Amino acid sequence: MSIDLPLTVDRGAAEPMHAQLVAQLRAAMREGRLAAGERLPASRALAGVLGVSRTVVTEAYEQLYAEGWLEGRHGSGTYVTDGVAEVSAPQPVALKVARPAAAPSGMVDLRPGLPWVGRLDTPAWRRAWRLAATVPPQQRQDPHGLPGLRAALAEHVRRGRGVACPVDGLLITRGATNGLDLLAATVLRPGDRAGVEEPGYRRARAVLAGRGAEIVPCPVDEHGLIVDALPDDLRLVYTTPSHQFPLGGVLPVPRRQALLAWARRTGALIAEDDYDGEFRYDVAPLPALYGLDPDVVVHLGTTTKILTADMGVGWLVARPDLVAAVAARRVELSDRTAVVPQDALRILLERGDLDRHLRRMRAEYARRRAAVVRALDGLPLRGDTAGLHLVVDAPPDVADRVVREAAERGVLLETLAHHHAAPPAFSGLVIGYGSAAFTDLAPAAALTRELTISGRIRYDG
Ligand SMILES: Cc1ncc(COP(=O)(O)O)c(C=O)c1O
Repeated sequence: MSIDLPLTVDRGAAEPMHAQLVAQLRAAMREGRLAAGERLPASRALAGVLGVSRTVVTEAYEQLYAEGWLEGRHGSGTYVTDGVAEVSAPQPVALKVARPAAAPSGMVDLRPGLPWVGRLDTPAWRRAWRLAATVPPQQRQDPHGLPGLRAALAEHVRRGRGVACPVDGLLITRGATNGLDLLAATVLRPGDRAGVEEPGYRRARAVLAGRGAEIVPCPVDEHGLIVDALPDDLRLVYTTPSHQFPLGGVLPVPRRQALLAWARRTGALIAEDDYDGEFRYDVAPLPALYGLDPDVVVHLGTTTKILTADMGVGWLVARPDLVAAVAARRVELSDRTAVVPQDALRILLERGDLDRHLRRMRAEYARRRAAVVRALDGLPLRGDTAGLHLVVDAPPDVADRVVREAAERGVLLETLAHHHAAPPAFSGLVIGYGSAAFTDLAPAAALTRELTISGRIRYDG
């Protein structure tokens, strides 16, 4: 054999043997252990070494030929395609431009965005999915979603967010971002201007821009959106009044009223992203903005934070004529929420499982927040009375350095700059305490504190 690689196949594995071989060879080429121009062993020889039939090896080679990793030189065997390693060698990617979806193993992930799923009531979760799977497939889907879930969610929103909403004012989505996208697809015309909080949720910007809007950054302060600074020519504004993302302000009532008056005066719509409105630790959550003026507010809810992003269900609440328009547009786009998750959520709601989970999680996040706040002792914090994240103020250079140094020591953090579209008005770190294991939180936060303090000393000095 002309190569010396640790290739193995496991006959007992669920993955077919040729696929196991493909994965190992692909990884070896990607990592340069098998270099461009190198010759692979003849299929018969490799099959003999591995103790498998020759077909297993030829199928693996064929797959890699088809993917362009391998080439045949007439009469002389199988080679790694020239240039493959250079093209596919992993490039170091700055966290700022692309963050890995999952933390590399062994890292403690303090980036915001994900809830803790370790305390799901497994029997309740399984029961809901098992029962949901018995729903017979429907001939035709209702673009508004399953009637039973719409009714259960209307009740949930009424009790949990203080908002009365008729069932025909609620449409099931796949999450808050999907709801915003459907709204944008329904009401925006090319070139319309759409406001997004600055700093704000990156995906909201991306979704609105994707529907042709010109994005207008709308400044926020520690309380949330600065309503007086809103221009008059927006078609809609995206906002997070219950817990500004990422700074964490809770929009005070006078500003809420001013925002609604602005929308009435200018004819704009307000997209209220209520992504974590259920979690508040000092006082009861304020009712959703939607309740104050259902004509100009579209309320977007999601199971991503209260349950898990794996559920893939959310809701959009708006005046019934707008809901009907969104439903019609959705049919044109062939956009839908799968029925089985909808029914699973209905069952969790109707049996009280979701309420129980929320009560448990409120206590869980309160203790997580307390542990993190304690470990960050003495640092200036913002937005720590609600949600699953908080902000540590720090100069931009210090924040960048802390993110780098923390990553070297096994902790993933994110800067506030990451959430700005315009030159950053705020600087510091956004610390999510939803997704890491509880026992990792205090040590990781203590490391963050230590690095921030030593960074500040260097910065000030
Ligand atoms: C501000 C904000 N909105 C919405 C979401 C969740 O949206 P979705 O329901 O699309 O998963 C997140 C979560 O990651 C978020 O941070």
